[in-house]
Amino acid sequence: MKAVGYRKSLSISDPQSLIDVDIETPKPGPRDLRVSVKAVSVNPVDTKVRMRAAPKDGEPPKVLGYDAAGVVESIGAEVTLFKPDDEVFYAGSIIRPGTNSELHLVDERIVGRKPKSLSFAQAAALPLTSITAWEILFDRFCLKREGGNRGTVLALGGAGGVGSIFIQLARHVAELTVFATASRPETREWCLKLGAHHIIDHTKPFADQMKGTGHAEFNYVGGLTFTEQHYPQFAPLFAPQAKLAIIDDPVIDFKLGKGKSVSYHWESMFTRSMFTTPDMIEQHRLLDAVSKFVDDGMIKTTLTREMGTINAANLRTAHALIESGTSIGKVVLSGW
Ligand SMILES: NC(=O)c1ccc[n+]([C@@H]2O[C@H](COP(=O)([O-])OP(=O)(O)OC[C@H]3O[C@@H](n4cnc5c(N)ncnc54)[C@H](OP(=O)(O)O)[C@@H]3O)[C@@H](O)[C@H]2O)c1
Repeated sequence: MKAVGYRKSLSISDPQSLIDVDIETPKPGPRDLRVSVKAVSVNPVDTKVRMRAAPKDGEPPKVLGYDAAGVVESIGAEVTLFKPDDEVFYAGSIIRPGTNSELHLVDERIVGRKPKSLSFAQAAALPLTSITAWEILFDRFCLKREGGNRGTVLALGGAGGVGSIFIQLARHVAELTVFATASRPETREWCLKLGAHHIIDHTKPFADQMKGTGHAEFNYVGGLTFTEQHYPQFAPLFAPQAKLAIIDDPVIDFKLGKGKSVSYHWESMFTRSMFTTPDMIEQHRLLDAVSKFVDDGMIKTTLTREMGTINAANLRTAHALIESGTSIGKVVLSGW
């Protein structure tokens, strides 16, 4: 079957950095779905893994891809949640081959039903980032899923893949007052369209930009990108007993939060699948919940760019866009 992989960690400008390959069709394990992949999206994790983890000599090419929408083609012996022909969306596991292949194996406990109102491409934009944003808001911050939460939240990197769904879940599901950072007119406009109440230009002092908003501090902060760079700006704005969740890799001074009893949370959306935690099925449930919010009109797809069919040349273009740090929402490829 067709797939896109790589043999060496190379700059994305090198034509060998991602290559079209023909690989063996995998056999489903007991709880696996074998999914006919219709669309995939690209995340910063694809580019990071490409650069840090090359297959050893003699090993097959490594296949990336941590977002897919597709149709269940066959199921393992112990699968109970899905059946063949079901339409699904999911991110998959970082310790298994990725979604950039015609047929892909994924444990049913981390798969959701694709929103009926979305195309495969629109649905493929959502899973990885939705899991991340949901787990921050409802598992790390422990906000009420039925809404009615009080306080302010700051999304650092509002227009990014994660920020674009974080803003929507924070506003429309958690019902917080949402601040988002955006530094360009187009990212500012995108964040407002998704539901941000206030924009902070992260190239200017944060405190000055709180004036006139009716708020002076943050109860919650989503450290979604460049957390280390902006920590000195937002740390003085923590409310007493604020919560910060971090998904990038900052080195920051935790002591700054001591006087206000700020709590710091790591979030990694691959934890549940990597360690097959007893609550791994929560990712199935949360993706189903997001799917329903989409079909009910509360949440929109974050797809902004379609980059053609799933092949090495188009994926190289998508990786280059992600590596530029200028991507807005999500980039998706569909069909083979
Ligand atoms: N731990 C996890 O589970 C997890 C899950 C998902 C993602 N991540 C990580 O989270 C990070 C963000 O992912 P993403 O998909 O949202 O990224 P992304 O889509 O590539 O983010 C692009 C956005 O970042 C903003 N940006 C660029 N430089 C910035 C700066 N110096 N300060 C603030 N914002 C800046 C840009 O908006 P402006 O032009 O307006 O600045 C741009 O629209 C990545 O490091 C990714 O690997 C971790």
